Amino acid sequence: MLKVGVIGLGSISEFHLNAYQKNPKVQLMAICDLNEKRLEEKGDYYQVDLRYTNYQELLANKEVDAISICTWNNTHAEIAIAALQAGKHVLIEKPISINTEQALQVENAAKASNKTVQIGFVRRFGSNTQILKKFIDNHDLGNIYYAKASVIRRLGNPGGWFSDSKRSGGGPLIDLGVHIVDLCWYLMGKPKPVSVTGNTYSLLGNRSHIENLSFYKAADYDPGLNDVEDLANAMIVFENGASLLIDVSFTLHAKEDELSVKIYGEKGGAEVEPELLLVTEKHDTILNMQPQIDFKGFDFDHAFDKEVNHFVECCITGNKTIAPVEDGVEVLRMLSAIYQSANIGKEVRFDYGEE
Ligand SMILES: NC(=O)c1ccc[n+]([C@@H]2O[C@H](COP(=O)([O-])OP(=O)(O)OC[C@H]3O[C@@H](n4cnc5c(N)ncnc54)[C@H](O)[C@@H]3O)[C@@H](O)[C@H]2O)c1
Repeated sequence: MLKVGVIGLGSISEFHLNAYQKNPKVQLMAICDLNEKRLEEKGDYYQVDLRYTNYQELLANKEVDAISICTWNNTHAEIAIAALQAGKHVLIEKPISINTEQALQVENAAKASNKTVQIGFVRRFGSNTQILKKFIDNHDLGNIYYAKASVIRRLGNPGGWFSDSKRSGGGPLIDLGVHIVDLCWYLMGKPKPVSVTGNTYSLLGNRSHIENLSFYKAADYDPGLNDVEDLANAMIVFENGASLLIDVSFTLHAKEDELSVKIYGEKGGAEVEPELLLVTEKHDTILNMQPQIDFKGFDFDHAFDKEVNHFVECCITGNKTIAPVEDGVEVLRMLSAIYQSANIGKEVRFDYGEE
């Protein structure tokens, strides 16, 4: 039995708590949140007796083997490092941290421990991604040289900590962009980034005045609080010449929301979102091939179960996770470079020194 604690009991924690509760190899034994009301409600609902408002006290409990970190982004690194020093395995919700320095500190703490550290790159666990990965690994797409992804919300700044850069580290780029940059980079075979050009725009605000159209709001929604970008776009170029183009928004004068992830190789292409589709040519004819599968797009619940179950398995067996700490660092390096490029108004090149 792996004895697990969950720190941070907001929206996303439910997916962790439910998955742990369903896993027969897990005993969900401790929870923690700053908000006492939420702590009591979740404790009663999930029947967890050990309840803490201070994560240090949860970590001091020697019986806890592993934790999930589901708190605001600015606390991920600090809690992960403390947990590793206390001898726990750690599943860190994305992003690993709010800056590269913190991310590297988490990586160092992970190296100094013999514990599993997994980053919450849940889209790697979607069946659309895993099916496509099989085709890619079997060279059906050939050399992948281009990917393009968008997550456009026309009205969807969640407010609260999400739009407070001190706690979030940024807006849609770090919140939504982290998923698509990771997903494309992972499917492209994790090439080394060499340069980044990015733009961010903070022109529309959170548009809390919009009527007659509902949108997701954080539990602690505060329309006065918003210092993050509302749109970001970027081009990332990799060492092998491949390139990745993305755009993401919390709000934009777009006709509708959009989610699209597309990968292009020399032998074939693929759409991962909104629905898995493969493209190739055979006998001088172009073929669009639609896999016959239960979930054509991202299956949120199943993907979370698979992510958590994989973490549990890695903790128990010592196997290496498919979403390791170094990938969390590399993705954050790319996101930080996009913000930096937008800030200085020119391309940012990665300096790997003499290798
Ligand atoms: N994988 C995904 O698809 C996905 C989706 C949404 C959010 N997330 C990530 O999950 C994390 C949480 O997001 P959310 O939407 O659940 O936010 P939320 O605001 O709903 O919940 C966060 C909770 O953390 C608690 N908290 C903050 N700091 C704490 C601390 N130091 N100790 C104990 N509790 C603390 C807050 O009180 C709150 O209850 C974020 O990092 C976010 O990026 C991931």
